Order: sequence, then structure tokens, then C-alpha cells
Amino acid sequence: MSSSAPKLSLAEANRKYFDHIHDSYDEKPWFAKVNQLVTNDLRDRLDWVGIPFANTGSSSDAKDVRLLDYACGTGLLSRIYAPYVTVTRGIDVSPNMVATFNDRARATELPESTIHAVVGDLFDKANPSPAQFSGPEWKDFDLAAAGFAFHHFEDVVHAAKCLKERLRPGGALVINDFLEGGDLKADENGEPILGTEGNHAVHHHHKHGDGEDEKKHDNDQHHHHKHGHHDKNDHDNDTVRQNLNASIVTPHFTIEHVRNFFTEAGLVDVDVVTMKERVYMEFGGVKLWRTILFAKGRRPMEEKSEL
Ligand SMILES: C[S@@+](CC[C@H](N)C(=O)[O-])C[C@H]1O[C@@H](n2cnc3c(N)ncnc32)[C@H](O)[C@@H]1O
Repeated sequence: MSSSAPKLSLAEANRKYFDHIHDSYDEKPWFAKVNQLVTNDLRDRLDWVGIPFANTGSSSDAKDVRLLDYACGTGLLSRIYAPYVTVTRGIDVSPNMVATFNDRARATELPESTIHAVVGDLFDKANPSPAQFSGPEWKDFDLAAAGFAFHHFEDVVHAAKCLKERLRPGGALVINDFLEGGDLKADENGEPILGTEGNHAVHHHHKHGDGEDEKKHDNDQHHHHKHGHHDKNDHDNDTVRQNLNASIVTPHFTIEHVRNFFTEAGLVDVDVVTMKERVYMEFGGVKLWRTILFAKGRRPMEEKSEL
């Protein structure tokens, strides 16, 4: 980005990046593998979420279960929970991601009343109660889920709080994201390079500190700067990477950081776990293995809605 380019807000940077890549977002074979592993893991831990689901065969099954898939993208979390919920609503800041979500939902022949996504942003502090989301359709969810999304949010406590507000008392928030120190570099063939444990997904100029105080990061520090990438072939990857980095605030989370911001947001029964095996991913042309974490927390039973 040239210094004269107008500075995008974080939500705008996200819209720009994800609008641009929506076609290819989850088409790569490595991505399908990541999504399969996340699917297996989350479906194995339905009980862990702590709410009754539908169609699990358990005597505690619920008849109606409503899911809010926030920052839904093309709908990974919606697909994961689809068998066990009865209504899904998606929200994403990127119109192209929402269009892809809805194309795929239509292909399942489920009606819009069952599954549908819209463009929106629940975290805009200049517009804290968007009229678009004031109806009952957008409240009292049993489950809110945000997949690979919290690393894009400026203020994670605010984000968790806004999502908690959309839950019924006792409803749960589930997220997945990336573990601090959980990356491993990969070689040209994608093979892990042992001994490279660390944070390799996003290049920083400034240190992030201990990860506990990341609410007000200036997004500028996440812009990619050239590091001797003079090869012309690197140019495309460099541009994608720049846009990717501009959309990311917190590339990695410690378990403690997630536990703290869930708790600070007023969630209870909080738990944060990691996947045992690293997963292979590519970011703006960079090959690496990453560790995925899952977190859950519930809205207290006794809490009244402020919406
Ligand atoms: C890495 S993708 C993940 C998509 C999907 N949840 C998944 O698990 O595959 C992150 C998504 O977050 C969306 N996003 C970023 N900031 C947002 C915000 N403030 N509100 C809503 N969506 C946002 C982006 O547009 C993008 O679709």
C-alpha cells in the first residue's frame, strides 16, 4: 500500500480482502483438509458446547436450535453444525462471501427460513444497535459461532460481548482460531521444518507483547513490508499477503488470552482447547503448519437481554 493511499478501516480491509478472494477461499485441497479436521473435531465435541442440540439421538435433544454463524464466510461453521440445528443465520462484512454462502445454502434446497446469510457488522461502535438486526430473527440464538474470525477483530472483548448479547440466557459462543507459538515453518514441499516452532503466519515489525493487551492495536503495524522479496514471482503473493495482513489484528492467541476475553465479555463455563495435530495451511503463498484452538463460553442463565 502506498503511503498516499487512504487508510481503510479494519472492517473495510476485511471486506476488500475477502471480497477479492471469495472464489478461491476454500477451494484448495489443503483447505478442504483443514476444514475436514475442524469438522471432525467440533462434531466430536458437541457435548462440550454445553447446550442441547437437535438430532443427536440423545434424550436431551432440543426441537428447535438456532445458530448465528458470525463472520460466516462461505459457511464452514454452518455446515459443521447443520445436522444438529434447525435454523441458521449468517452475518459477514463481505458481500461476496455472503453471496457464496447463500449460493451454497440454496444448492442444499433448504429454504431461506432455514438457512440464510446477510451482509453486516455487529461490532461497529459508531452503530452499536443496527436496525437491520433489531428483529427477533436476530436474537436469542442457542449458539453463536465464529470460525477463524476473531483474528480479524479489532476489539475481541467487544466482539465477544456483542455476540453474547445475541444469545439466549444459557446459549453458547464457540470460536476457533490459531494458537500463539503453534506454527511450524514448512519447506517448499510443504514438509514441516522441525525446530521452527513459533509464530510465522504474519510478519510483524513491532512485537505484540504478551498478547493480553491487544485491544487497541494500530492496524498499521500489521501491514506487510518488503523483506528483500525482489523476485518478480513474489509480487503476486506479496500483494495478497499485504491485503491479508491488513485484515488481521491478532494472528495468534494464547489460551489464557482467549479465556480472559471470554470472561471479560461476561461469558461463563469458559473452556479453551487445542487440536492435537498441527494443520498444513498456506497464507499469501507462505507454507506453514498451524495449531488450531477452540473456545466456548455460555451466557449466564440469569442474565437479561440488553438489546
Ligand atoms: C478467515 S474467514 C472465515 C470464514 C468462516 N467463518 C470459516 O470458518 O471458514 C473470516 C471472515 O470474517 C469476515 N469478517 C471480518 N471482519 C468482520 C466483521 N467485523 N464483521 C463480520 N464479518 C467479518 C470476513 O469477511 C471473512 O469472511
